[in-house]
Order: sequence, then structure tokens, then C-alpha cells
Amino acid sequence: MKAVILAGGKGTRLRPLTIYTPKPIVPVVNRPFLEYQIEVLRRAGVDDIVISLSYQPDKIEHFWGDGSGLGVRLSYITEASPLGTGGAYRFAADGCETTTVVVNGDILTDIDLSAVIRTHKERKAIATLTLTKVEDTSRYGLVETNVDGAILRFLEKPKPEEAAAIGVNTVNAGIYILEPEVLSLAPKGENRSFETQIMPEIIERGMPFFGHVIESTYWSDIGTPATYLAANLDLLNGNIRGFDLPKNTGSDVATAAVVDGLSRIAEDCNIKPGAEIRCSVLGRGVLVEEKAIVENSVIWPHTRIAAGAVIRDSVVGRSCHIGRKAIVTNGAILGDKTQLTDYTQV
Ligand code: GTP
Repeated sequence: MKAVILAGGKGTRLRPLTIYTPKPIVPVVNRPFLEYQIEVLRRAGVDDIVISLSYQPDKIEHFWGDGSGLGVRLSYITEASPLGTGGAYRFAADGCETTTVVVNGDILTDIDLSAVIRTHKERKAIATLTLTKVEDTSRYGLVETNVDGAILRFLEKPKPEEAAAIGVNTVNAGIYILEPEVLSLAPKGENRSFETQIMPEIIERGMPFFGHVIESTYWSDIGTPATYLAANLDLLNGNIRGFDLPKNTGSDVATAAVVDGLSRIAEDCNIKPGAEIRCSVLGRGVLVEEKAIVENSVIWPHTRIAAGAVIRDSVVGRSCHIGRKAIVTNGAILGDKTQLTDYTQV
């Protein structure tokens, strides 16, 4: 079976992290993000995967070669100009005669996709949309289904009282199972959105279209700084099952330093005496000097954290320099190459 991973968006909400690193390859616990998605697809037997690109394609094209190192067949396709989520699907799956799994390239989940595909086939659906339940409905477009799971309508970001009145709390989880008939709803070469154009049209035409609610499954997007940090911490804390995290090897950790059992340290890091690393991710070649503290944070490669600095609940980009006794806390997001002078507080 074929899959298309939509990975061509600009990732504006994740700036400044996505200025030099496009969202599909931002490191999540030291692995380029899309590897988690490729693993979920492979486990479900979907091993013919097209990565659909538009923004900064040169940084991703050929990133994993033909995919053999990940146990799949990978190809890359780049739009001349952004075609939107639906247009990108048409461009990547044009001429495809089989069922296709389409995945938004910023969803982290441990979903059992084979169960979704099985239900899609049993229902003889033309399209199945995965749905997830959320508490705060105001940030999302809601999807209403009937008791049999057939999708009735989409409601764009209704007020909480409106959502409560109609009893809907399911939102688009960003994974679609589509039969080739859906291709014709996205005219060749034209910009189309799944959410606002193609899916409403599937309903209008009365095609068999079902929602599949994913329950007892981890689901999050990594599209904002807060959700990106949370996804890293959820992986460290074991809130997502089934992914092997990279081992802590090849770094120089002083005996008088503390690295707790949850943290993940890539190779070539240097952690000096008295430093403390708790529930955090350090990318390759990070230097943490004497008595610096890193807690509930993600540090990208080749950053230097000087003596006595404190980084808490924050993300620090690549090749930054955090000065002595500087304090970075409270969800701060520092872009690549940020230089903080000694004693700065962010
Ligand atoms: P923001 O700019 O922060 O909204 O992020 P985004 O650009 O990724 O947009 P959004 O989250 O709405 O996109 C959902 C998924 O579709 C993401 O994985 C995007 O990479 C992808 N995507 C969005 N637009 C396009 C497009 O025009 N072409 C392709 N190939 N993918 C797209």
C-alpha cells in the first residue's frame, strides 16, 4: 500500500526553529521527526512512501535516500509552487490505482494504522478520516459524525458553548485513508485544501466517508513550540509507546555531573562536573559547563551552555551560546545561533 506524507508546509508557527530546519526534519529526541511517521506506516505494512515537499525541499530531498535503511521504499516529490494539502496529494498520488494513506507531516502518534485501514475496507469507504477527541475545542475545526461513524459536517472553530450544545469534541487527526476516486476532486496542478474544499465536497457528493476515532492512542502535533517541547517530553516520560529512543553513548559525562534516567544525550556531548541534566534532550556536540542546569528542555546540536546557566522548560536551537549564569525558562524558544551574554534572563 502507498502513503503520501504531506511535508511541504512552511511551518511558520514553529519559527524560529524552522528557519534553517524544515519541520519534517526537526529533531524529536534526536531523531528527524518524519522517522516516527515512517515507522508507524511501516508497522502497518505501508512501505511505499512518497514524501511530498514544497518548502526548503533541498534540505529533505534524498535525506533518507531510497529508505532502505528504514525498511521502506521512499521517494520524494517537489511542487513547483505550494499546492495546499489536497493539491499536494493529487500531485504525489496522480495515477495511483490503490488505497492511499495520507499523513500530515507534523502529527506524532503511535496509532495502529492497520486497524484503521481494516475498518475502512470493511465499511467500503471511499474516504476515512482519523479523528481525535480534544478538551479545548476552540483551537480546532470540529468533525461531526452519526452513530455509524459517517461524517456529517465540519464546523470551523466553534465557540466552546456552541460545541458543547451539539456535543461534538472530535477533530481531524491529520491521517486520511483514501480511494483513488478522491483524486478527481483535486484538479491537476491547482491549489486545494483537504480541510476546507475536498472533504466538504466528499460529503456533498454523498460518497461513503467515515470518521475513525483513535482512542487510547497518543496523538499530538509538533507544529507549535509548546507542542514540540511537549512531544519531546512525552517521549522521554514514556507517554508514547512503541518507539525506541536513541541510546546515550559516545559522550563525555563527568562523574560529578548528574544525568537522570529520563534524559537522552547524543554523541560528542561534554558535561562538566556539577552540571545537572534532568528530563531533557541534548543534541550532538552540546557542551554543558560546570554547575549548569538543564531541566525539561531540548537543546539542539553544538550549543554551549556556560557555567552556572539554568535552562528550564525551554528549547534552545543549534549552535547557540548561553552565557554564564544566564537563565532561560518558561517556554522560551531560542533560534539557531542565539548568543546570550552572561547573566541574561529570558
Ligand atoms: P504553519 O505554517 O505553522 O501553519 O504549518 P504548515 O505550513 O505545516 O501548515 P499546516 O500545519 O496547515 O499543514 C499540515 C501539513 O500539510 C503539514 O505537514 C505541512 O507540511 C503540509 N502542507 C501544508 N501545505 C502544503 C503544501 O502546499 N504542499 C505540501 N506538499 N505540503 C503541505
